[in-house]
Amino acid sequence: MTPERTAGSEAAGAARGPRPIPAREVRRLLDAPPGQRARVFAAADRARRAAVGDEVFLRGIVEFSNRCARNCRYCGIRAGRTDLRRYAMDESEILDAAQAMAACGVTTVVLQSGESDAFGDARFARLVERIKRETPLAVTGSCGVRPEAVFRRWRDAGMDRYLVRFETSDPRLYARLHPGDRLEARLEALARLRALGVQTGSGFLIGLPGETLETLAENILLCRRLDLDMAGIGPFIPHPATPLGGAANACASDPERFLLALAVLRLAHPRAHIPATTAFDAVFPGTGRNRALQCGANVFMPSFTPRAHRGDYRLYPGKPCVDEAPGDCAACVVGRLRLLGRPIGRGPGHAFGRRLARSRTSGTSSRTSSAAAAACDQGPAPVCSM
Ligand code: 5AD
Ligand code: FES
Repeated sequence: MTPERTAGSEAAGAARGPRPIPAREVRRLLDAPPGQRARVFAAADRARRAAVGDEVFLRGIVEFSNRCARNCRYCGIRAGRTDLRRYAMDESEILDAAQAMAACGVTTVVLQSGESDAFGDARFARLVERIKRETPLAVTGSCGVRPEAVFRRWRDAGMDRYLVRFETSDPRLYARLHPGDRLEARLEALARLRALGVQTGSGFLIGLPGETLETLAENILLCRRLDLDMAGIGPFIPHPATPLGGAANACASDPERFLLALAVLRLAHPRAHIPATTAFDAVFPGTGRNRALQCGANVFMPSFTPRAHRGDYRLYPGKPCVDEAPGDCAACVVGRLRLLGRPIGRGPGHAFGRRLARSRTSGTSSRTSSAAAAACDQGPAPVCSM
């Protein structure tokens, strides 16, 4: 199926959105030569509009702790980095960040940390409860693999969604890059979350050393097989203070392939929420996330991590917005979306087309969307450091 025929099926299935492209198309489109990629990008943009509309949902991210027990060989906050200042924000600081994002029209808070129980599982549950009680936000957790009982407790506290990337679909590559960990364990965690009625997000790194085009295709197909509610992907960026600091991204000679992967992901999994991840801006300074929004993405995640901590949460070099104050990123995204002619998503931006087992997020759309509109009317937005 060509991108055009994919687009044709959009019209046929307008009510349900476009049909996912088959596996062989995933492989073929990932190999599209530069001259043919504009058509793939355009098809992905049309599929995004037909399946999930023009709205861009804002998820404010708070990187509340960089304590990490794992040693992923590419990651800038891996446990083995003894030169890094470790921090954990306290609850009131996190709550302040959540209140600030709600005031800016953001409708979801993403609570992200390294993979560790150092923050305290019961404390995290209390934090989720407070956020749900004191703000209108949907809550997404992103703190790595935890036991089922912990996920259950967090769900009962009101956690709506959870993100845990599988990073690569190749079990051997996974084992090489994640000492002491197995791909299977991550996939089991996703299954547990799904069974608990938590909306699941996952995704992968593009261009890990040792990855082939077939791996990339399998990564995309795995997102589809897992029927993810959210699929977040971004280029691997070598961090000099990690074991992979000297390794090149497998697509280094062809960085446009990062965007191509995102476009093909949209065509393969039309109804997923797909964020324009920060790492795209690290590769294409100032334009990466905008380009991602134009070839399949429908979510943007402005940072609300306090400035004092941003420098200590550098997963990779060139991470944008490190010197910005939290409100700057929110204003920046409003400016970007205005430029692209895309409206800000109303409401919490839950999974599309899924009956949620435990949907208890408050319906705050009118309040938050009018706040967003007010933010839009504040004039030109400051620009993130890019
Ligand atoms: N380059 C790009 N992304 C990275 N991540 C961690 N290290 C890097 C890196 N060097 C991503 C991983 C992780 C997410 C929080 O950040 O995919 O799941
Ligand atoms: Fe902790 Fe990668 S080393 S998430």
